[in-house]
Amino acid sequence: MKTEILNIYNEVDIKRATYLLAKGELVAIPTETVYGLAADAKNPEAIKNIFKVKGRPENHPLILHIDSAEKLTDWAYDIPDVAYQLAEHFWPGPLTLLLKKKPEVSDLITGGLDTIAIRVPANVMLRDIISRLDSGLVAPSANLHTKLSPTTAEHVLDHLGGKIAAVLDGDSCSVGIESTIISLIDQTPKVLRKGPITADAIQEALGIKVDVLETHGKKVSGNMLKHYQPHTKSLLMTADEILRYLKNSQNEDKKIALMYYSSMRELIVQPHAVKLSGDIEEYTKAMYQTLYQLDKESCDEIIIECPPHSSEWGAVWDRLKKACYQEN
Ligand code: TXA
Ligand code: MG
Repeated sequence: MKTEILNIYNEVDIKRATYLLAKGELVAIPTETVYGLAADAKNPEAIKNIFKVKGRPENHPLILHIDSAEKLTDWAYDIPDVAYQLAEHFWPGPLTLLLKKKPEVSDLITGGLDTIAIRVPANVMLRDIISRLDSGLVAPSANLHTKLSPTTAEHVLDHLGGKIAAVLDGDSCSVGIESTIISLIDQTPKVLRKGPITADAIQEALGIKVDVLETHGKKVSGNMLKHYQPHTKSLLMTADEILRYLKNSQNEDKKIALMYYSSMRELIVQPHAVKLSGDIEEYTKAMYQTLYQLDKESCDEIIIECPPHSSEWGAVWDRLKKACYQEN
C-alpha cells in the first residue's frame, strides 16, 4: 500500500482524509500531543486494523477523540459534574477523561473494559474532520507497539509508511508528550497517566483532592514498564554520572549519543550530543523528536540526563524511565 501524504492546511486534503476515514481506512492524524493512528470509532473492522498495524495487543484500550464535550453523552453515561468542569477548563487540550462506557459502544475500543477514555484534541482542523464524520476517532499514538511516540509526519512514516492509507501532516506537535489520563469512575479523581496537565493544575481547577497512581492494576499499554523505546539502548544518568561515564568510556570504541539540558561545557565537543532547554514546555516539545534523531545516528547507546525532580516533570520521568527500561 502506498501511504498518501496529506496536508491538514489544505481543504482538498482534509476532504480526502475525511473520505478515507469514512471508508474505514486508517489515517495518521496530528494532535497537539503526539500523532495518532486514527480510525472511525463506529467501524469495527477499522478499529481491529489499528491493533494489527501497530502490533498492539487487543486488550489495550484506545482513546476516543470527539469534537466537543457535548458529544460525551454519545459514548459515556453517568457522567459526573467534575467531567464537565474539567472539560470547561482544559478542553480542547491534552487531558483524557476516563468515564463509564455506554454498553452500545464497541468493546473493541476499550479492550473489553466497561470504561472509555475520551478527549477533545486542540487542533481545530482535526475537530472539523471529526464533525464532518459525525462520529469519533479512536487513535493510539501512531508508532509501533512499545516504540517512541511520533511528533512529526516523518516519524509516522518511519513506523507505518506503506501500512496505512494516509498521514495527515500538521507540522510538529506543539506539546510533544501524550495526554494526561484521569479516571472519574470513583469519588476521588485519579491520574492514571501523567501528562502535560499536572495533578496540581487539576486540583486547582476542581478545588478538590486528586490521587495520582504510580502504577495501576489494569493490563493496559500505559502501564507497561517497557514503552516509548528508541531502538538504541538508552540509559538515564545524572549530570555527574554522565561525565564520569564518558571519562571511563574514553578508551572504548563506543559511539555514545547524549540528550541533556544542564550546562556541561565538556559535552559541547561531543559529536552526538543534543542540549535541550531546561524549560519544561520546550523540553517536552523536543523530547521525542531528539530521541528519534539520536536513534538514527547508529550509536551504541543513548545517554539521557535525568530530568529535575519537581512534580511538573513527572510525565517526562514516566516516559524516560520506560524508554530506558531494560529487561535485565
Ligand atoms: O495524547 C494522547 O493521549 C495520544 C493522542 C493521539 O491523543 N494518544 C495516546 O494513545 O497516547 P495510546 O494508545 O498511545 O495511549 C492510550 C492509553 C493506553 O496506554 C491505555 O493505558 C489508556 O490510554 N487507556 C485507554 N482506555 C483506557 C481504559 N478504559 N482504562 C484504562 N486506561 C485506558
Ligand atoms: Mg502510545
